[in-house]
Amino acid sequence: MEPNRRTVIAGAAAGMAAITLGGTAHATGGRKPVKSLFGKLADGTKVHSWSLENGGTRLEVLSYGGIVRSLEIPDRRGRYANVSAGFDDLEDYVARSPYFGALIGRYGNRIGKGRFTLDGRAYQLSVNDGENSLHGGAQGFDKQVWDVEPFTEGPDVGLRLYHTSVDGEMGYPGTLRTKVTYTLTRHGDWRIDYEATTDRATVVNLTSHVYWNLAGEGSGTIEDHELTIAASRYTPTDAGLIPTGELAGVAGTPFDFRRAKPVGRDIRVFHPQLVAAQGFDHNWVLDKGVTARPGHAATLRDPTSGRTLRIATTEPGLQFYSGNFLDGTLTGPSGRAYRQGDALCLETQHFPDSPNQPSFPSTVLRPGQTYRTTTIHSFGR
Ligand code: GLA
Repeated sequence: MEPNRRTVIAGAAAGMAAITLGGTAHATGGRKPVKSLFGKLADGTKVHSWSLENGGTRLEVLSYGGIVRSLEIPDRRGRYANVSAGFDDLEDYVARSPYFGALIGRYGNRIGKGRFTLDGRAYQLSVNDGENSLHGGAQGFDKQVWDVEPFTEGPDVGLRLYHTSVDGEMGYPGTLRTKVTYTLTRHGDWRIDYEATTDRATVVNLTSHVYWNLAGEGSGTIEDHELTIAASRYTPTDAGLIPTGELAGVAGTPFDFRRAKPVGRDIRVFHPQLVAAQGFDHNWVLDKGVTARPGHAATLRDPTSGRTLRIATTEPGLQFYSGNFLDGTLTGPSGRAYRQGDALCLETQHFPDSPNQPSFPSTVLRPGQTYRTTTIHSFGR
């Protein structure tokens, strides 16, 4: 795949030191994040784009939604491609994005009927997905302009993103102060550290909604990508994609990704759980559970380019969404429309609807506590 024009310009302007070994470009160091104006919101608020590079990984992040607008990694022959779906223009992100590349909060995935009770008090959240609340409600963290602070620390480069959500926003109790750190390490890993504090008891479940296509965005289906998920169970859902509360075994079902399997292999097997979601759109219960340090969750590999993504997380769950609702109406930077299954999401998280599921690991955050989770994306080829 040809790098797009923007990429070429960014690479040249950065004067990146690179050495060529048998056709493979090796980055020799991190690059200080570079800021540029990406666009303006209707009310005149400026949205900036930040470009950073380290260890052979190139990342472009928007202050709007903390959106990963592009993430470029080399294939086995050293050829770069943007492996994350997105748009060229801010207007598309504002008007029609299905959470492309965005930070998700206050609550990743769904809360049934947008309702929950905490400490005896009932809360009604913003409902934006049928009768349910999805990804924080109508104006979630994906639609906020974050304060962004660049850093270079030792061999690392990165961005700190800050957002304060006021008490009652989207129906959630408590003023939530959120800090998300995106770090590119010298090995080219993209690490996300999430932190949040509150002044009233609340629920929190932050994640990142990158749509991956390791062959390059706009290159067609991800059904040939091989996926491994380190989970023996998943959380089946009702027709509205709300977990029933059951933890079902994956053995003998299309949901078994314990060994590497092409995403498309079982996607057309008749299974009631694949019907409502029109494919995979479920939470896998990671065997490692909640961990103090990031533990292995999933591996994604594109056999054609050789590009691989490994995800490690402190979180107990992983939402694997096979891009089922992409319907050809959205066009990416490559100029090609995204059809069903042209990209997939692997969202590390606590389980959907946890505030209404007493048996699921708790998502409650209280004053004096700090919410802290980490997810690391490592790339190979
Ligand atoms: C998550 C949800 C999906 C869908 C996408 C965005 O993955 O689980 O159902 O909402 O986000 O379209």
